Amino acid sequence: MQQLVVTGGNRLHGRVSIGGAKNSVLPILAATLLTDDECRIEGVPNLQDVQNMLEILRNLGLDSTFEDGVVTTRVRDEVSSIAPYEHVRKMRASFSVMGPLLAKRGAGEVSIPGGCVIGVRPIDLHIKGLRMMGADIEIAGGFVRAKCRRLRGSTIYLGGNFGSTVLGTANVMSAATLAQGRTIIECAACEPEIQDLAAFLVAMGAKIHGIGSHRIVIEGVKSLTGAKHRLIPDRIEAGTFMVAAAITGGDVTIEGLNIEHMLALTDKLEEAGVIIDAVGSQADQACRVRASGLLRAVNLTTHPYPGFPTDMQAQLMALLSVASGTSVVTEKIYPDRFMHVAEYNRLGAQIRKEGPAAVIEGTPGALSGAPVMASDLRASAGLVLMGLVAKGTTTINRVYHIDRGYEKIDAKLRGLGAHIERRDVPDDFAE
Ligand code: EPU
Repeated sequence: MQQLVVTGGNRLHGRVSIGGAKNSVLPILAATLLTDDECRIEGVPNLQDVQNMLEILRNLGLDSTFEDGVVTTRVRDEVSSIAPYEHVRKMRASFSVMGPLLAKRGAGEVSIPGGCVIGVRPIDLHIKGLRMMGADIEIAGGFVRAKCRRLRGSTIYLGGNFGSTVLGTANVMSAATLAQGRTIIECAACEPEIQDLAAFLVAMGAKIHGIGSHRIVIEGVKSLTGAKHRLIPDRIEAGTFMVAAAITGGDVTIEGLNIEHMLALTDKLEEAGVIIDAVGSQADQACRVRASGLLRAVNLTTHPYPGFPTDMQAQLMALLSVASGTSVVTEKIYPDRFMHVAEYNRLGAQIRKEGPAAVIEGTPGALSGAPVMASDLRASAGLVLMGLVAKGTTTINRVYHIDRGYEKIDAKLRGLGAHIERRDVPDDFAE
């Protein structure tokens, strides 16, 4: 088990580069099941979730290599179409192998991902979409067992009580590429990561229209070829470094991002008093983030893209904890995604939860370090951000959460002048 130990007080400065998007690469890797040919994915971050997905694919008969940010995959055999609980429980995105398995092999057996600390996270919309394309689906013994002859196109409304579904859209869109006829997904997710998956599928020979809109139309084809694809930048990693610069009153240039994917965040940061400037000739690919003086309170509500991303909620709450005034943060995607509140309060924040919202009374300069527990990936990033400004030392336990989605976050922060180190500790010590 490892801990991150952060000593607060340093203003961050310098340059940092952003890696490829975690939430693109996972469904894209799953989609390599759709072809017998070799696929090459570039710009892949070395994350625990990527390693998990490669392990799942190996069990499903795919050979792969992963070197210098490049993953290659090729199908070795199609003997097993089972993704067992021991893999799926580690990462819900594993369920995105179901659509490709069903479309290519006519069968898929994937363990039901359980709930997790950010909420209940059902998969009913995935199942509804695949059933509407003709899949015969049975749920028993903790597994979703699906089979079909050839999937057939259908018009599918994929919205739920909380709006569109990202991985549900990924599953149905991937499956529809090999279905017979036309599939229309209404209320499709239009997140940049879904657009990236669609771009990969098109490079494989899929026929997809309406990419980036809420109405995606897929004309099924008989087979797909291998493809080469470079991932889009990770907007959540980029956003986390923006907050790191702002919360420490620093001056950081963030390179290799796509600012157009981040407007909901940059809009809120600017409202809070953060200065964000495009840098150089490729204005949308690098930006300088500065803050000085007091940050201001802002209200925000999470929404599907292009709204404010739920995956930046915990990090923004960290910033608002040290802003001047009262902020209200409302969760419209995962109403229970507030496990970090109690840990933030241990560091001196004044946050109270009121239904699906949190009210933050900003306490500039009042945080002080303490041992805290990371509850999920983004909450652990939020705790690191809090540690950067808290007086004294913050020890963050259960940091395996952060390694699922941030490549070398501690080394990158150290490169910007942060005082952060990683320690090995006995398991019971880190609990
Ligand atoms: N929902 C349903 N039924 C479904 C699927 C989803 O009701 O069948 C609900 C969910 O409970 C939630 C809402 O719909 O209230 C949206 O969930 P969505 O399906 O969009 O989430 P996801 O696809 O499982 C992805 C990201 C999450 C991110 C969400 C929302 C990946 C691998 N994961 O999850 O990322 O929070 O979209 O943007 O793409 C993270 O990276 O830390 C992370 C949790």
